[in-house]
Amino acid sequence: MSSISRELLCLLAPLESLRSSDIKGITSIEELKKAKLDDHLTQYCIGEYKPAIITDNLFSFFRFTDKQAYLIIIDKQSDSNSELRRYNFYGLLDTYGKGKIVASCTTLSTDKIKKSINLTNVIITQGQAFILELCQFHTDYDESQDWWMRDPIYEIILSSYQDSNNDGIGDIQGLRQRLDYIQSLGMKTIWLTPIYPSPWKDYGYDISNFCDIDSRFGSLDDFRELIKDLHSRHMRIIIDFVPNHTANTHPWFQAALRNDPNYIDYYIWHEGKNNGKDLPTNWVGASGQHMWTYSPERKMYYLHQFLDSQPDLNFRNEKVMEEMKKILRFWLDMGVDGFRADAVRHLIENDQFRDEPLSKNAKDSDPEVMYDAYEHTETADQPDSYVLVRRWRKFFDEYAYKNNRDYIFLATEAYAQDIKKVMGHFALNREELGSDVSINFLITYYLDKEDDEKHGLALDKQLSEWHSNLPDHAWSNWCLGSHDSRRIATRLPQKELIDGFYMLLLLQSGTALVYYGDEIGMFDRPFKLEHREEFLDITAFNYGDEHAEEKTRDCQRTPMQWTDQLPYAGFTSGTSKPYLPLSDAWHEVNVEQQEKATRSHLKLFQQLVKLRQQSPFYGGNQKKVISTKELYAFIRWLDTNVYLIVINMNKIGQNPVTTDFMKLLKYKDKELLGEIVARSCNVLDDSPNGKEGNQINLNKLILQSSEAIVVKLQASAHDIPFCRP
Ligand code: GLC
Ligand code: CA
Repeated sequence: MSSISRELLCLLAPLESLRSSDIKGITSIEELKKAKLDDHLTQYCIGEYKPAIITDNLFSFFRFTDKQAYLIIIDKQSDSNSELRRYNFYGLLDTYGKGKIVASCTTLSTDKIKKSINLTNVIITQGQAFILELCQFHTDYDESQDWWMRDPIYEIILSSYQDSNNDGIGDIQGLRQRLDYIQSLGMKTIWLTPIYPSPWKDYGYDISNFCDIDSRFGSLDDFRELIKDLHSRHMRIIIDFVPNHTANTHPWFQAALRNDPNYIDYYIWHEGKNNGKDLPTNWVGASGQHMWTYSPERKMYYLHQFLDSQPDLNFRNEKVMEEMKKILRFWLDMGVDGFRADAVRHLIENDQFRDEPLSKNAKDSDPEVMYDAYEHTETADQPDSYVLVRRWRKFFDEYAYKNNRDYIFLATEAYAQDIKKVMGHFALNREELGSDVSINFLITYYLDKEDDEKHGLALDKQLSEWHSNLPDHAWSNWCLGSHDSRRIATRLPQKELIDGFYMLLLLQSGTALVYYGDEIGMFDRPFKLEHREEFLDITAFNYGDEHAEEKTRDCQRTPMQWTDQLPYAGFTSGTSKPYLPLSDAWHEVNVEQQEKATRSHLKLFQQLVKLRQQSPFYGGNQKKVISTKELYAFIRWLDTNVYLIVINMNKIGQNPVTTDFMKLLKYKDKELLGEIVARSCNVLDDSPNGKEGNQINLNKLILQSSEAIVVKLQASAHDIPFCRP
C-alpha cells in the first residue's frame, strides 16, 4: 500500500483531458505540467481514460483495459469542516461492482483497505484521495455486488410464519426454527413486517412503542438471538420502519391529548372549518376514512392518513425527526442491517390545507371515503417527503462510517400510480443519495387487470414502463406481491403460469422481493362476511360491509403451509387455533410435499435462485427480445454466457407457439443451439423441449401453453448481433 499525493493522482488522467475546473482545489494545470509521474504510479496509468463523477467537491475517473480497471477518486474540498460524502459509481463502467484500495494519500485504517468497497457506496472525507482496483463481476458471486443488490429479500409476516409456543401466533423462536428452510430457498435476507408492541388495529403498523418487541412475538433477547443466528449464517435482517404515524395508544399521542407542551406539536392538529363545525379539509385517507378526527380533549382535529387509531406524526417538527433517529439508532445498535420505510409518500402534507380535487376516474358509486376517488395533490408525494428519505439515507451513511459497519440498506414503499413519483425516492443523482429500493409494484398492477387483459403485451407495458423510467444511477427491483396485495397464485389466470413469473422475478436484473409462501404458490383464503369474527384487517369495513370481502388483506396473510399434517399444517400444534385461519388449499399446497416431489414450484424456485448466482444474472446485460399477446421473452448476457428466457402466457389448452429466435436475435451462422437449464413444472419430460440438459434448435422454438423455459445459448454475446448496443 503506497502513499501518494493528490496532485500526482491527477496525472493519471491524460493532461489534455483535464480542465482547470476539474482539478481546481487540488492543483493547477501549470503545476501538473511541471510534475512528473511517480514511478510506482505508472502501473495505474493504463489503457483508456473515462471521467467518472466530477462535481464541485469531487474529481474522479477510470483508467482501464480489457483486463484491468482502476478508479481514481480525489476529494476537492479543503474546508476541514466539510462533511463526509458518499457517492455511487455503480454502472459507470460496465461489469464492475466492487473495488479494493491499492493506494491512498491519507492513512486509512487497515480495515478499510482490506475490505472490498462497493461501488454503490464509496465514502470519502475532506482532502482524501485513493485508487480503487476494480473487480469484475464474473470473478465470483459473493464478490460481485453489494448484498442487497445480489440477494433476494424474503418478506415475512412473523405472526403467520411459525408458532413455537402453541398460542396460535407465529413468533421469533418459531422463525428461528425455520432458518434452515429459508436458507434452503437461497434467501439470505429477511424482511420482517412490524414486530413492535401494538394494539394491532393494522397488523402492527400501529405502533405503541418503537423500541420493543410485542410480547406475542417474544422479547428483545429473542430478537438478539435471532440476529445472532442470522449473522452467523451470513444472512441479513431488515425490519419495517413506520415513521408516518404511531398508534393512538402511544405515549406521545396520549401526552399530546393532555396538552403536554413537549408533545403538542408531535402530531398534526387543525381547527375545523365554519367555527369548528366542519372538517378542516375534504381529505380522505388511504384506509377509507376522512383524514381528520375530532379530539374532545383538545377541541381540535388531528390528522391521520390511515386509520383514526394511527395519528400522523408531524415531520415539520425537528424533534420528531430526532426521535426517529433515536429509534433507528436503537435497532442499528442491535445489529439490524437495514429498513423498509413504510408509507413514505404520506409523510408530509401541504401546510396550506387546501381541499383535494376529485379524480377523473371517480365514480358516482364510489363510497364517500374512497381514496382513489381523489387526486392527492396536497397529501401525497410532497417534495419534503423526498427530502426526509434522503436525510435518513445520510444518517445511515454517517452511522455506518462512525461505527465501522457494513452498508445500511434502505427500501421505501410508495404506491404512487405515477411512476415518476416512485422513482423520485431513489437518489437524485450520484451524489444526493436516497432509497436503494423504491419498491416496484408494477407487476402487481398488471395482476390487478381482468384475466383476459393479462397477456404478454400488457406485461411488457408494465416492465417497459419501469425500465424506461429507472434513472441510470438507480438499481432495479421486482416483486410479485406483498402483505398488501392478493397473492400471485390466486391472481394469475391459471396457477401454472407462476413459474414464468418466478423467472421474471429472479432472472431479471435487480433486487427480488419475495413474499413468504409465494415460493410454493400459496393461494389466498377468501374471507366471508357471514364469518365476520374471522376478519382481522378492520380497515376493510371502512368502505361499508359490502366492500369488506374485497378490501380485506387477511386473504393473503394466512399462516405458512408447512405440511399436510392436521390440525394446522405444521404452523401451530393445535392447542390454540391459528390467529388467522389457514388457506383452504393447504393439504395440496405445502412445503413438505413440494420438497418431496421431483418437480414442484418450490424446486423450480430454488433452482432459479441458484441460477441467479451465476453470471450473467447478477451483473450482465438484459434486453427484451419479443412481446406478443402470447409470448414474453428476454435475454441476459455477459461475454460467453448468454441466456434466453421465454414465457408462453397462454392458458393451458391452446395451440403451441412456434418462434424463430435465430431471426429475432439476428444470428447469421448456420444454426443456433441452446440447452434447457430450467423449465416450468407443467411441462412434461416428453414435451418437445424436454428436460434440463436437452439441446434445442432456436430457429424453431415450440412452446406449449403456460410453458416457461430458460435456455443457455451455445453462442457468445459477441456473435449475436441483437446483444450489441
Ligand atoms: C403501508 C403498509 C400497510 C399499512 C400502511 C399503514 O402501506 O404496507 O400494510 O396498512 O402502510 O401503515
Ligand atoms: Ca406463538
